Amino acid sequence: NGSSLVLDPRFVLAEVDRRLFGSFVEHMGRCVYTGIFEPGHPTADDSGLRGDVLELVRELGPTVVRYPGGNFVSGYRWEDGVGPVEDRPARLDLAWRALEPNTFGLNEFMHWAHAAGVEPMMAVNLGTRGVQEACDLLEYTNHPGDTYFSDLRRSHGAKDPHGIKLWCLGNELDGPWQVGQKTAHEYGRLAAETGKAMRLVDPSIELVAVGSSNSGMSTFASWEATVLEHTYGVVDYISLHAYYEQHGDDVDSFLATATDMDMFIDAVIATADHVGARLRQRKKLRLAFDEWNVWYQERFVGQTNLDWRYAQPLIEDNYTVVDAVVVGSYLISLLNHADRVAIACQAQLVNIIAPILTEPGGRAWRQTIFYPFTQAARLARGRVLRTLADSPLYATARFGEVPVLHSTATYDEDTGDLCVFAVNRSTTETLPLTADLRGFGPLQVAEHSVLADDDLQARNTADHPDRVSPRRGEGARLDGGRLTVGLPPASWNVLRLA
Ligand code: AHR
Repeated sequence: NGSSLVLDPRFVLAEVDRRLFGSFVEHMGRCVYTGIFEPGHPTADDSGLRGDVLELVRELGPTVVRYPGGNFVSGYRWEDGVGPVEDRPARLDLAWRALEPNTFGLNEFMHWAHAAGVEPMMAVNLGTRGVQEACDLLEYTNHPGDTYFSDLRRSHGAKDPHGIKLWCLGNELDGPWQVGQKTAHEYGRLAAETGKAMRLVDPSIELVAVGSSNSGMSTFASWEATVLEHTYGVVDYISLHAYYEQHGDDVDSFLATATDMDMFIDAVIATADHVGARLRQRKKLRLAFDEWNVWYQERFVGQTNLDWRYAQPLIEDNYTVVDAVVVGSYLISLLNHADRVAIACQAQLVNIIAPILTEPGGRAWRQTIFYPFTQAARLARGRVLRTLADSPLYATARFGEVPVLHSTATYDEDTGDLCVFAVNRSTTETLPLTADLRGFGPLQVAEHSVLADDDLQARNTADHPDRVSPRRGEGARLDGGRLTVGLPPASWNVLRLA
């Protein structure tokens, strides 16, 4: 009942794009306010950035961070968030029915991004606004000087342009919950014209068109097809969003949800390529999976009619061991599509369905899902290998028969590191794994870590922040180019061979 892999450095799927390890900061709940930004917090610097959170973000290792939304961006005036703080207006945030004080805005975010060592991925408002405001924003961020908006930036203390490369043309505009929802035709035309004009301001930018809010939308795939009919020649990426949760006690299906992620990615690739063929386009679009995570949306029902409060706790899921294993599985799916998925952002970074939780004025700690992300971000480098995998199957109520083993491997020629990332989806049995590595030179097990627990519901809390963390794996053997290891039930496993 074991599983096996054949790996060879010559079987290459794609380079690992470092942007696959992205995250997301939205003006929502306590992600910004009392999350990354809290003037007066004991660890805050002069500009109000929380030092404890910054340290955890650096350890987590995201490469790119999307900002400022999310649904929030569809009603946002970016001008409210720049200039002297005392002059900035407080506004109603219609997306989350919250009070937006605008004490944190574009330049604060850029300061934070610099301190965190991440690339910004900026979204423009195509809900309530359009071509002009997007161009104004781009002129403010990227134009060197001697124009109204670039000089305005300089007068706000940012002498050099921010040079933001990556731009999202709106957010989830197919969704009825979106302020400024549009039909695919309306959005496609607006996105094409906005992208065209933005490229006139700065031809070096990269653009992301909005795909469906999730694959369950009734317009899924036809939305992508219509939007891309309008935007194919202008954009570089099409976005995907997906959130998963465990329904009832069906942990077996939950552990298999990456199968749905795989189908979703494959469907968007097929749709984009179909449009590309119809338009006689040579270029292949790439995918930006710029929102993904476990999110217990069932618990969110009832939190939707919010009153106008500042930084009220919202969707602060406290993740379990099984959630972390599933997050590891999504990272595996993303890596296994690295030939087409170039960008991925776990949503979100702090407090909102996040790997990091904080107390206002108090502590910050790592959730269980922090670990698979940080390990993959640190170790998945070089190239993703095409793996030949053989695994027993198990039955799930939602996805039929699914392989018990879910795995991927990366090989970094520069360091000689071969990394295997593997999930055992069985909640009851250890899964024996053998890997044929004879195509590589001599290797040794340099690192072996396991995230698993007898209690699948165990979580980290402020009082027990280290209840769940990866432990050193045992029993991995390499003999004559063959690796053998046992993967514990419901586990996320990382093996670095060097
Ligand atoms: O990440 C939370 C919300 O989920 C985002 O604002 C929105 O884009 C998505 O529906």
